[in-house]
Amino acid sequence: MINIKERIYETLEIKGGCNLRGTIEVSGAKNSALPNMAAVLLTDDTVELRNVPYLLDVNTMINLLQYIGLDVYEVGSGVFRFKLKKLNSLEAPYELVSKMRASILVLGPLLARFGYAQVALPGGCSIGTRPVDLHLEAFRKMGADIKVEHGYIIGKVNGRLKGSIIEFPRKTVTGTENVLMASVLADGVTVIKNAALEPEVVDLANMLKKMGAIIEGEGTDTIKVTGVESLKGVVHEIIPDRIEAGTFAVLSALFEGNIVVKNYPFEYLTYVHKVFEKIGFNIVKIGKDQVVVVKSDKLNPVDIETREYPYFPTDLQAQIMTLLTVIRGNSSITENIFENRFMHVPELQRLGAEIKIKGKTAYIKGVERLTGAEVKATDLRASAAMLIAGLIAEGNTVIHDIYHLDRGYENIDSKLKLLGAEISRA
Ligand code: EPZ
Repeated sequence: MINIKERIYETLEIKGGCNLRGTIEVSGAKNSALPNMAAVLLTDDTVELRNVPYLLDVNTMINLLQYIGLDVYEVGSGVFRFKLKKLNSLEAPYELVSKMRASILVLGPLLARFGYAQVALPGGCSIGTRPVDLHLEAFRKMGADIKVEHGYIIGKVNGRLKGSIIEFPRKTVTGTENVLMASVLADGVTVIKNAALEPEVVDLANMLKKMGAIIEGEGTDTIKVTGVESLKGVVHEIIPDRIEAGTFAVLSALFEGNIVVKNYPFEYLTYVHKVFEKIGFNIVKIGKDQVVVVKSDKLNPVDIETREYPYFPTDLQAQIMTLLTVIRGNSSITENIFENRFMHVPELQRLGAEIKIKGKTAYIKGVERLTGAEVKATDLRASAAMLIAGLIAEGNTVIHDIYHLDRGYENIDSKLKLLGAEISRA
């Protein structure tokens, strides 16, 4: 079992103004590990996942799979084996789903495999209402009877799900993943139109194909799946976390390129690199999968819009904003994916950042430097932005509610301490 104590009310104290240097490693992608773990429900055979990051969310998904009836063994560092021992339950209970919305990812596999699922309706979170209506519509189209009662989604299928044409009105990452997992065992062909293109969707498709699924077009707008009767076990390595990598690229940019980022998935961050270059930072490869971020002599403000992959990811919005707070000139960031993903702005303002919000756009006026203060982490990715801000601010910073951090960044304080950061949990 992963021994991550759930630190609900801990704080992180950061000494600002330290000079950081050294190498920081990118872990396995959280948003690959979660759907890949849900996919283990699709087979009776043993599944081995490698490069699994040690995160609270991974812990929660392991607990959920064990609750359903899987044996889960840690067989090495970041290596876990999963095997359905005895089906205990077809329910994803509220106390687990309320900790992690991605629990919705067991809905598709449970419907496909067992014809029944009872999953607590994921609540919203700080970044938005996060509805799952598109998931449910798709399963209804595939022949499932889906009801929502007393805060639970109850799905039933007579026999197998039917292969169908599923056209998403807007791109949804976990919606695409849920339908993908449901369709691999469905009767007939499923075509997912306006599918999400994220690398994590492609990673899931690669794992499913190794299990015997017949999938074409992953990574494009249209994915075609031909259902099969059953899937076999697999050994699958999870891709590196492009969001953690982008977060560390911001760190390297802010520390004069003295930080090498290892296991860097260069090919997943093409558009992000374009934005860095427009500001005046070049992502320089110094080895097969290692980069440093080199600052040119002129840094410029930029205007950024978050969009679905392959464009600028919403999950890097708070981190790049932290960088822009200390770039002279007027920059802007428009958040197009979530309706409330600027909760970190008032926290950055407490550190002296000059930011104004008008509608979906934050207008940032670069300041000379940030100054330490007490702040709070507001969502998973914003918590890393606050950590970076604390490292570059003058004076000390205390971040409250840091359980967000542990949900998405593996051992981040120990990784930063290796670079010379003075950080302590209190
Ligand atoms: C995934 O969330 C990621 N989570 C998120 O990362 C990421 O921010 C998001 O994709 C966007 O890239 C995982 O992969 C586990 P969506 P997801 O469905 O799938 C609306 C992190 O920090 N929508 O692509 O839930 C939705 O409200 C997390 O790791 C509906 O309206 O996001 C949003 O506005 C945060 N109805 C937009 O679509 C639906 O049924 C995109 O959401 C589904 C989504």
